Amino acid sequence: MMTQADRLDTLLTEERRFAPPESFRNQANYRDPEVYERAARDPEAYWAEEAKNLDWFRPFTKILDWNPPHARWFYDGTLNAAYNTVDRHRFGPRKNKAAIIWEGEPGDSRVLTYDMLGREVDRAAHVLKSLGVQKGDRVTIYLPMVPELPIAMLACAKIGAIHSVVFGGFSARALHERILDADAKVLITADGGWRRGNVVPLKRNADEAVQGTPVEKVLVVERVGAAAAAPWTPGRDVSWREAMAAAPATPFPCEEMNAEDILFLLYTSGTTGKPKGIVHSTGGYLVGANTSLRTVFDIKDDDVYFCTADIGWITGHTYIVYGPLSCGATVVMYEGAPDWPDRDRYWQIVEKYGVTIFYTAPTSIRTFMKWGPEYVQRHRIDTLRLLGSVGEPINPEAWMWYHEHVGQGRCPIVDTWWQTETGCAMIAPLPGLVTTKPGSATRPVPGISADVFDEEGQSVPAGSGGYLVITRPWPSMLRTIWRDDERFARTYFGKFPGIYLPGDGAHKDEDNYIWILGRIDDVINVSGHRIGTMEVESALVDHHAVAEAAVIGRSHEVKGQAITAFVTLKEGIAATDELMNELKRHVVEKIGALARPEEIIFIADLPKTRSGKIMRRLLRDIAEGRVLGDTSTLADPSVVESLKEMYKDKE
Ligand code: PRX
Repeated sequence: MMTQADRLDTLLTEERRFAPPESFRNQANYRDPEVYERAARDPEAYWAEEAKNLDWFRPFTKILDWNPPHARWFYDGTLNAAYNTVDRHRFGPRKNKAAIIWEGEPGDSRVLTYDMLGREVDRAAHVLKSLGVQKGDRVTIYLPMVPELPIAMLACAKIGAIHSVVFGGFSARALHERILDADAKVLITADGGWRRGNVVPLKRNADEAVQGTPVEKVLVVERVGAAAAAPWTPGRDVSWREAMAAAPATPFPCEEMNAEDILFLLYTSGTTGKPKGIVHSTGGYLVGANTSLRTVFDIKDDDVYFCTADIGWITGHTYIVYGPLSCGATVVMYEGAPDWPDRDRYWQIVEKYGVTIFYTAPTSIRTFMKWGPEYVQRHRIDTLRLLGSVGEPINPEAWMWYHEHVGQGRCPIVDTWWQTETGCAMIAPLPGLVTTKPGSATRPVPGISADVFDEEGQSVPAGSGGYLVITRPWPSMLRTIWRDDERFARTYFGKFPGIYLPGDGAHKDEDNYIWILGRIDDVINVSGHRIGTMEVESALVDHHAVAEAAVIGRSHEVKGQAITAFVTLKEGIAATDELMNELKRHVVEKIGALARPEEIIFIADLPKTRSGKIMRRLLRDIAEGRVLGDTSTLADPSVVESLKEMYKDKE
């Protein structure tokens, strides 16, 4: 894989262009570039128009109140997210249309029509209410990719409770911290989940995680049955199945929510050890999600849409649940691993359900490349008409492979740049309108004002790079960081007042296309998952044997970046392979398998500047085998020599 500098070199020489195929353009939702001009002329009017695609209980008359860094959108309107994603379809012509086609890893499947989904959501809302959940309360959800996950989220939305979904790959400790921060009173989990034929012991993690938190009730979905025997705590644990069976079958009335009421929290990593609870609103978020499916994903009523993300991440929230369902689309949801039972599982699913739109991450595409095209070729996938990519910069080689082998040379690719904080895709082509270049997310979507700034906050000329920025507020922007508004203001609006700073570096080419270069802060991106180096460092120094730790993201062929940890040990402790494995296990226990260091390097001293700052860049250069740059600021130059030696031994 490439460093940011290598990436830039490649991008600057990338000459391939892919205009939207005529057959695609002719059927696209957006085929007139007028939408870009209209949105640029008056972004607020554009968004107000888009907002009318939702059903409002009380229509808004106000569009935007912008008091940087705080925005309020459509703020005198009221609506309900569950009504917009389920009920309005259920009580209309989409009543018997498939809303969710779910495929379990072992091969079981379930189809929920909009009407069936609606009934499940109503029952679940009754259940939550009976457990004492009220409007504004937080409910933490720690579930595998089963239908009960969107059902639980939508039940919260119906009541007006705030959901906080925690990815099932996080450890008990990570879950514990997120429950505490959100101050949740109910946790929804499962006995376990399937992953490559093994059981992920969610209930056991949950039992540990709720100790010492305000959680009063744990609602337990049965997924793996006897395969995961976890103790039952009477009075606290409630069986999802039994509670659903006992719940009234009557419709649950939607809570009328103000557009600015919080729909959900979703934790993400930042530059400190403490994860941030990103706060999303009901109205603006839903407008962003809904619009995005119609613009970037060209969604139509007869599409079968498959996004491979886990709902535990923002991609799943927006592009499995709120976006497609608000459009009344049919969504395919898959529980397990792409190589279970074999490496053709995604393509088997595409063939089985006739998937038309497929959305995945570059790390998956690079994995498919490694496996070879024969797995794709095993199946008829010619129903596909549009492909998407998200989560990290896509290298042109992976883009081309995706185009040729999955897109069969005919499907447009939408490379979508966005973040947990932005709620929906911000820089991405409209597939019927924009000529794509492999490796570029192209240009901001209509209604979004993105640019590249220099250090002084000036827009850089075409052909140069700098900080990616968003210069105007947009409906689905985060509203704040949960219970830390000061951190919100500082992190995102601290550098350029009134301007949103995502934390990515970017290059603007001669056609004003944007090329994302990657993070410019201490955040790394492993297989499309965002991990703070500080989080991993704190997990390491928490171990009794460790004195100091410095964590960097090293370029990795498949994962994009891999975690390398440089560790110094306390006096008298020997650096052994056992200790190395123990430290890896320790990180997994503290955070989850997604944060497991790929390599741990024991060293005598960390390279530091004279002012005591760890020189991460230098560590990265060493780990990636590059010639070292200027090391004159180094307090003790001999550290570098011993590090290089150490690293040589490793390879
Ligand atoms: O660095 C960018 C990268 O992922 C970060 C956001 O991570 P997260 O909040 O976990 O959301 C991921 C899914 C939206 C960004 O700051 N990123 C995401 N999409 C792209 C990307 N980098 C380059 N190209 C993309 N398409």
